[in-house]
Amino acid sequence: MIPVFKPDLGEEELAEIKKVFDSHWIGLGPKTREFEEAFAKYIGTRFAVGTNSATAALHLAVAGLGIRSGEVIVPAVTFVSTAHAAVYCGARPVICDVNKDTLCMEPDDLQRKITPRTKAIIPVHLGGHPCDMDAINDIAEDKGIPVIEDAANATGALYKDRKIGSLAKSACFSFHAVKNMTTGEGGMITTDDEKLAKKLYRLRWVGINKDTWNRAYVSAKYSWYYEVTELGWKYHLNDVPAAIGMAQLRKLDGLNAGRRRIVERYNAAFKDASWLRTPYEADNVRHAYWLYILRVNDPAHRDNLIKHLAEKEIATSVHFMPVHLHPYYQRFFKSKKMAVSAPVADDEWRRMITLPLYPSMTDDEVKQVVEGVLSFMA
Ligand SMILES: Cc1ncc(COP(=O)(O)O)c(C=O)c1O
Repeated sequence: MIPVFKPDLGEEELAEIKKVFDSHWIGLGPKTREFEEAFAKYIGTRFAVGTNSATAALHLAVAGLGIRSGEVIVPAVTFVSTAHAAVYCGARPVICDVNKDTLCMEPDDLQRKITPRTKAIIPVHLGGHPCDMDAINDIAEDKGIPVIEDAANATGALYKDRKIGSLAKSACFSFHAVKNMTTGEGGMITTDDEKLAKKLYRLRWVGINKDTWNRAYVSAKYSWYYEVTELGWKYHLNDVPAAIGMAQLRKLDGLNAGRRRIVERYNAAFKDASWLRTPYEADNVRHAYWLYILRVNDPAHRDNLIKHLAEKEIATSVHFMPVHLHPYYQRFFKSKKMAVSAPVADDEWRRMITLPLYPSMTDDEVKQVVEGVLSFMA
């Protein structure tokens, strides 16, 4: 079976892990710090805070703004963690529709969804395509509302020559097993705001004002003393995934270039198939291509195409069923008497199918997927 994703792991990652094993410090420590500094430098922000997932990062990013109620605007097409982050904090997610081309938050609908209760906006760079950040930031700044980028799908993407993750109050990344770069499980929050970063370092470590590494080695001598200054969570990254992250970060641009080469082959192969739509890339962005989302013009074909490809040993997926269609959120919105309107998302998601895409895909595998797709209509 050709998988949808395949992480690119090898000797470089093992060598970094060995250094951590040899140091005998595998918890939150110097490798995590080194990875945070390297990641902040890569993105172009002053700070980076390592977490054990993007879900944790999103929760902390919302909690770090002191949000305990009100509304957080999220796009309809995303992984549920974006919306869960609001609910974890006692706020309500408000569903914003997506742009038909990019499948990212639609600024015109964002404008409509803002109310006096809006506490934050979380645009998602879906599949690796950057959101229209200038338009979103203009709307948010006008109303004094903070923006948190959900960059879980887009490590390495560019918006107007700037890295995704440096374009808002904070940004959350995912290093889950199959993302553009991986640490097995892991995440990161980037920000330029020093006060927020310091708070996030505490919140990710149950609210303690000094982590164990700092107490043991960074202070002049070991001190058992620490204080819990607020309620935090046990969401920190540790040195084993951070070691994998160091090797992956060095490879990231090469891995993303490998993804792009396969995307170009897919696009060329599908360009004359009038029943399909290939992924869109705006002129002023560089897509990170975590996902290759193909769309069929006739939604009735989507699930049959998935079945057809499975019979040919080709795995596919759908990213993502809109948040408000999940039973939990159907009940949530009903119980809060919140109307949801996202007609573009409701229509487009039924056409979406994610094809296999990973940097180590062979020419034969790409050919097999192309032939599999095109044979559906033939
Ligand atoms: C848009 C988006 N946000 C958040 C997440 C959560 O990431 P993690 O698995 O690292 O918690 C994902 C995971 O796929 C995602 O796609």
